[in-house]
Amino acid sequence: MSGSFWFRNAIFYQALVGSFKDTTGSGVGTLRGVIDKLDYLKWLGVDCLWLSPFYASPMRDDGYDIADYYSIHPDYGTMADFEELVAELKKRDMRIMTDLALNHTSIEHEWFQQSRLDPNGPYGDYYVWGDDAQRYPEIRIIFTDAEDSNWQWDETRGQYYFHRFYSHQPDLNYDNPLVHEEVFNILSFWMDKGLDGFRLDAIPYLYERDGVGGESLPETIEFIEKIRRFLDENYPDAIMLAEANQPPSETMEFFGKGDRFHMVFNFPLMPRLFQAFALGDASPIYNIMAAMPTLPENCQWGTFVRNHDELTLEMVDEGNRSLLYSAYLPDDSMRAHVGIARRLAPLMGQDRRKIELMYSLLLTMPGSPFLYYGDEIGMLDDTSLPDRDAVRTPMQWEPGPGAGFTTSSHPRRPIVGGKGISVAEQVDDPESLLNVVRTMVQERKAHPELGTAPFEAVESGHIGVLAFERGGLLCLHNFCDETVDLGMVELGPYGYAWIPVEAAED
Ligand code: NOJ
Repeated sequence: MSGSFWFRNAIFYQALVGSFKDTTGSGVGTLRGVIDKLDYLKWLGVDCLWLSPFYASPMRDDGYDIADYYSIHPDYGTMADFEELVAELKKRDMRIMTDLALNHTSIEHEWFQQSRLDPNGPYGDYYVWGDDAQRYPEIRIIFTDAEDSNWQWDETRGQYYFHRFYSHQPDLNYDNPLVHEEVFNILSFWMDKGLDGFRLDAIPYLYERDGVGGESLPETIEFIEKIRRFLDENYPDAIMLAEANQPPSETMEFFGKGDRFHMVFNFPLMPRLFQAFALGDASPIYNIMAAMPTLPENCQWGTFVRNHDELTLEMVDEGNRSLLYSAYLPDDSMRAHVGIARRLAPLMGQDRRKIELMYSLLLTMPGSPFLYYGDEIGMLDDTSLPDRDAVRTPMQWEPGPGAGFTTSSHPRRPIVGGKGISVAEQVDDPESLLNVVRTMVQERKAHPELGTAPFEAVESGHIGVLAFERGGLLCLHNFCDETVDLGMVELGPYGYAWIPVEAAED
């Protein structure tokens, strides 16, 4: 069991290295750029940074297509920069988690190159090869808008390889014990650099079996337990965070009895928050919370509203999916896979009240909150960009052409801009979104019980108001565009309040 529970009360912040801060003038963010901005993150109240993949990669899936697990993408810097980043974080008493995609690699990975060339060689069995492109028909295609099969023909080897995601991302073969060994070597390599843990990407999909959908299979769960034992034995403070976008009951599998993941993203809750806004009705949140089992004591949810992906709607039923599309997808260019590639502020119609309400939910619902870079200043998105790049544009530090992100006139991704939407324009204004978010983060920290206290639903007496008690606080959230008088307190349109329970009882 892990030695410390720091993650149950930490504020996490997700940054994409390439879009955070450029220090070379190339138009791409760098690790040194992240170092330059650590004081900002500390000021904001961040305890743990989550960096999306920064490894060598052809970048056809923004780095989730890893070509070498042991090296830094040259655009982002060097291993020495990474080591310095870890040291600088530690100096500030902050932590770092990195992202590991273990389900698949890039086709450019050396293992794949060897595997396709020499079926009988040492890497011949590293991937899922087959002669039958109809095998595993029960396994769903995840990127339905980009792929029509999970198999891709490889001319060199004269066989098909299996892939859950893009066809340039072949799945590793977890039936091969050598692949397990590689995983443990990768984990050790990065843990020895001083990490605090990993976000494990696409984790339900490691194994495939005939006749089943191939998600969260017992073999996959067993391997997860093996990773956990390995980390507990060798790096007892390290934490594992699961990206498992599965139906609610299956999501619980990733906690096990507290012997699998320490943290799992709360995919079941996230779309219900947006649903409540769309309906002006708090019931979707009450309902999902009533269905949510208690977590093992040493575990925690990762609460999030947005990240680098589309607002995924894979796990909501058809009726709610259409509701969410009609509320949040005014234009089909904003669609990505089975979801909506937009940032928080535009999703909330750039309505400050709604954005703040969402932050209040993020900070008071059970779990540790994950902030997504740029949303704290209300960044907009560029829906003309391909795939999910709309929500991955450069962080806006200052007004003006390079946004304080770069000196290049041709950044890799365009800067979206917008009046008042930069850190420099907001930092000294106590009324700015940035300062309101920061104050809310401080409030949350002043109530550490919000990290672990159970969720006790309270009948609010109004369909549009969510009321719950957690750790001595009565938290109220109004999803209506009108003032609601609850007797003891009045909530303005989209208003929220955190009230000490004793005060509420007076
Ligand atoms: C999940 C990641 O969050 C997403 O960005 C990526 O495209 C897929 N895994 C495939 O690697």
